[in-house]
Amino acid sequence: MATQLKSGHTAEPLSDEDSARILKDFPGQVDGLVRVQPGGWILPTPYLEMADKIYDFKFRESDVVVMTHPKCGTTWTQDLLWNMVHNPNIDNPAAEEAVNGRSPYLEVDILLMGKMKEMMLSDTSNPMLKQFAELCPGANPADGIGIQMAAATPGIRIIKSHLTFPLLPPDLLDTTKVVYVMRNPKDMCISYNHHCRMARFHDFQGNMDLFVDYLTNDELFYGPYWNHVKEGWKRRDHPRLYVLFFENLKADPVAEVRELDKFLGTDLTEEQMTKVIEHTSFDKMKARDAHFPVTEEMKKKILNQEVVQNEGGFFRKGQVGDFKNKLTPAQESKIDAWTKMNTEGMDIEFKYSI
Ligand code: A3P
Repeated sequence: MATQLKSGHTAEPLSDEDSARILKDFPGQVDGLVRVQPGGWILPTPYLEMADKIYDFKFRESDVVVMTHPKCGTTWTQDLLWNMVHNPNIDNPAAEEAVNGRSPYLEVDILLMGKMKEMMLSDTSNPMLKQFAELCPGANPADGIGIQMAAATPGIRIIKSHLTFPLLPPDLLDTTKVVYVMRNPKDMCISYNHHCRMARFHDFQGNMDLFVDYLTNDELFYGPYWNHVKEGWKRRDHPRLYVLFFENLKADPVAEVRELDKFLGTDLTEEQMTKVIEHTSFDKMKARDAHFPVTEEMKKKILNQEVVQNEGGFFRKGQVGDFKNKLTPAQESKIDAWTKMNTEGMDIEFKYSI
């Protein structure tokens, strides 16, 4: 049955046949998927409960939203912006907390599925729940941990969302600033493949051929990738939007941070910029390994430890061009054809090496 959303979109569950196929390949996605039209957005079924609340979320003028398709440099950008705003001298003890604890993930609840939800919500030692209880005393986690934590976060908020513009409040850019982060589709594909095999809530079972098929058939969580990119790109001239390319940040962090400094109005000194860049470098973020506010024990349950040990954890490689080591020529051709089809007349160019 179709569900009408406040945003004007219609959400429909996938067909029984598609659902069974996807569940076989992604046995962690136990709650199933819906397709949201127009746009064809693929989201987990719990999104239906959150969609209108997210659409009505009250952003503040001082907010900065980090908006991305997954695996395009979200966490890096969240940490970079948070430190620019809240820790320019690298002396704020809160900087040791997990990135997604300091920088709220607006729709995190849609990822809390099935057994994982039970596990996350029943463990009172879970730092995310502790933080929730502190920030939102008396609030019910079932009403949405992400949006309630975001609402209760004081000061300048760096808010993460993988949702695209049309699913967020229509006046978002009138109200707040948005940093939209893009990454070339081949590196994103490798990173997303790793993520989907590592995270138990996806638990992808197939090989890279199958993953590339899912990607180019626009059947991955939060996709279609190109529709996501297009929604960001078409607003690129808006003064409250900053389009940040992962590849540019990697190639010349100083130049990007100078631009971001102007965009945010943080007015950092060169020394502060250098310190923040160093603090949020791949090696430093990997050493902290503080992506999500969960205990080490919980992390072991959520992440496939074999994948983590053999191929790296959340902070895997952080490079531009790693796809060259992973994709076959046939897989690259498929992504190239899909890219060509989707970028016709779009005047956008990604870097595949730096
Ligand atoms: P890889 O899997 O290619 O290593 P997201 O935060 O959107 O999920 O993106 C995750 C990707 O960003 C991963 O890419 C991760 O390693 C990379 N990343 C995270 N922090 C980074 C940093 N400080 N510098 C460079 N890449 C970083």
